[in-house]
Amino acid sequence: MSACTICVLNFKGGVGKTTLSVNFAAALANTPKNESQNYKVLLIDADAQANSSVFMLGEYWKREIFPNPEKSLFGLIDRVRKGNLKKIDEEDIIGEFQPGVRSPVFSSEKKILPDGSSTYIDSEVYWPNLHIIPAHYNLISLERDIRYGEDGKLYISSFGGPIQYFELMDRISSYIKEYYDFIIVDCPPNLYTMSENMLYFCDNIIIPVIPDWLSTNGINWLIMQVKQLSQRYGNRKKEIRGIAPTLWNVRELVFSRHIRILSRSIELWRRNDSYRDLLGRCEIWTGLQRLSSVNKSIESLRPIVDYHSSELARVQVEIMTRRIIEWKEE
Ligand SMILES: Nc1ncnc2c1ncn2[C@@H]1O[C@H](COP(=O)(O)OP(=O)(O)O)[C@@H](O)[C@H]1O
Ligand SMILES: [Mg+2]
Repeated sequence: MSACTICVLNFKGGVGKTTLSVNFAAALANTPKNESQNYKVLLIDADAQANSSVFMLGEYWKREIFPNPEKSLFGLIDRVRKGNLKKIDEEDIIGEFQPGVRSPVFSSEKKILPDGSSTYIDSEVYWPNLHIIPAHYNLISLERDIRYGEDGKLYISSFGGPIQYFELMDRISSYIKEYYDFIIVDCPPNLYTMSENMLYFCDNIIIPVIPDWLSTNGINWLIMQVKQLSQRYGNRKKEIRGIAPTLWNVRELVFSRHIRILSRSIELWRRNDSYRDLLGRCEIWTGLQRLSSVNKSIESLRPIVDYHSSELARVQVEIMTRRIIEWKEE
């Protein structure tokens, strides 16, 4: 069965895309698929800021990926745009493919030194079912360098004909779609080439949003953009399945007001026939509220399932993760 592919998307930064991506990936990989194994999860970091990558790999990213950009998503996309159609395989992914071979995913753990400074040391924790394709800062220049004509086409001789600029990722992803149960993509805060490649590649979209005035206003525009793009993609199946309010605070009424506004506006979109495919099954979740334990878990490079975070954070992540697992089983 093909992987359930999910991109965590919003053109706004600081809304919790990375926080949700890494925590969904870890929580899914921590869930038993059957009696003998957990779900196999691939996290793709598509944001040049590489936050998910540093979170997952800590020192390993700095030591192995930063000096070798070809070992990252940058390398894979650069390779295919230059005409090398090699599919993504184990060589391109960081993770444990042979049982017992230690993976560097979560190899670091933050330690605070007596003088207040911090360092990262190797941790005993590792995640055999959680693999990653890390990002690299070079993704920024790559977006600039991918040149296509007015028709959106890239003329790459070895492809035997032009392809659309947003197909690069999908063209090399057959192995990963077969191997994993879930693929989670942490998208950059824009809708440029890399986001479009990930949108084309994924079936499902989760939108994290801070329920305040500016952010909820932007959601309508984002929905229209995603609709337009999916039309350009030949109406491939795309569904916005979850809107996750993030960084809200129970004590401030403004947040609950904006969550209600958001629900109403999704209802209105749904009544519009041409948006039914995109939003017909969209749910507004409880999401993940602002909690200091979430911040601390991020700083400690430990996902919430593996961190002594508050029960609340754990439950909120778990509720969303359970919904995602249900999509797979539909
Ligand atoms: N639920 C939360 N509670 C507290 N801090 C959070 C929460 N979600 C995100 N943060 C913090 O907010 C900042 C932005 O989150 P991040 O996931 O990096 O957003 P994005 O990827 O959309 O830019 C980070 O510093 C992160 O640690
Ligand atoms: Mg981010």
